[in-house]
Amino acid sequence: ETDTDYSLIGKNEILPFYRPREKYSHKGTYGHSLIIGGSYGKMGAVQLAARSCLRVGSGLVTVYIPKCGYIPLQTAIPEAMVITDNEDSHISEIELSIEPTAVGLGVGMGTKEGTSEAIANFLKDYKRPVVVDADALNLIAQHKDLLKYLPGQAVLTPHPKELERLIGSWKDDFDKLEKAKVFSDKHDCVLVIKGAHTIIIYKNKGYVNTTGNPGMATGGTGDVLTGMITGLIAQGYEPLQAALLGVYLHGRSGDITVENTGYQALLATDVIEGIGPAFLDLF
Ligand code: APR
Ligand code: MG
Repeated sequence: ETDTDYSLIGKNEILPFYRPREKYSHKGTYGHSLIIGGSYGKMGAVQLAARSCLRVGSGLVTVYIPKCGYIPLQTAIPEAMVITDNEDSHISEIELSIEPTAVGLGVGMGTKEGTSEAIANFLKDYKRPVVVDADALNLIAQHKDLLKYLPGQAVLTPHPKELERLIGSWKDDFDKLEKAKVFSDKHDCVLVIKGAHTIIIYKNKGYVNTTGNPGMATGGTGDVLTGMITGLIAQGYEPLQAALLGVYLHGRSGDITVENTGYQALLATDVIEGIGPAFLDLF
């Protein structure tokens, strides 16, 4: 039986741990994020995550991508640094020459067998915070032994299908949340269950988001959220705090942006441009 306490995520929950920008700071103060993802035809996902990561204030952002993404990434995002895999069209090994403060893993990554081996090798050595999304979740669901390599308090951000692959199917919403809680406890992960009302589960607590709208039901908005949570962890937020703040700001950005675009026209890119206004709206 569930003993989870639920609360809403609003400004009052976010502001107590909000970290203001300090005058005597420099880019090193705000962390170095690494976005690992991309494959032939899905490089846009990495662009969205990297830009979002910059927009939440990450001091530095590097992307690790297959070779075919090098020119598009460098052209689209002058602020980001790029490390390429040896493979042209998918990730086959994750060899790092940097020490990131937070990693966002999986956007647009594809599910090639070589990529799951690369994830396994990476996770075995990597002990700092990680956000796991999209195809990295799908690969972990296919190879459940990968779960034991996740560092503590990993943030997992499944949409409903990805969640089902991880925890199996459910009878109703209560059953879903109970299974999610059991999974989160077993693997010590912050589970961000995305949807119209995103719910975050961690240690007997559930947090229900109050921001966001159906305009956000468009490709790429999930990749934006991954970049945001990664960039917040890089700046020193605890993984749970980063999930709460990221989910809140992501929806708030969508809400502010639809006032100009309307629901139909909203693009994931617009949600990135709304991150600044969403921060300003906190106060
Ligand atoms: N109301 C509020 N928020 C919504 C709504 C809605 N009706 N619909 C979607 N959202 C939000 C979700 O809460 C989530 O944050 O938009 C985001 C959608 O994320 P994903 O479902 O992961 O979609 P996205 O990542 O953009 O899809 C691109 O990535 O995960 C893979 O397989 C997936 O091919 C897909 C690709
Ligand atoms: Mg997604």
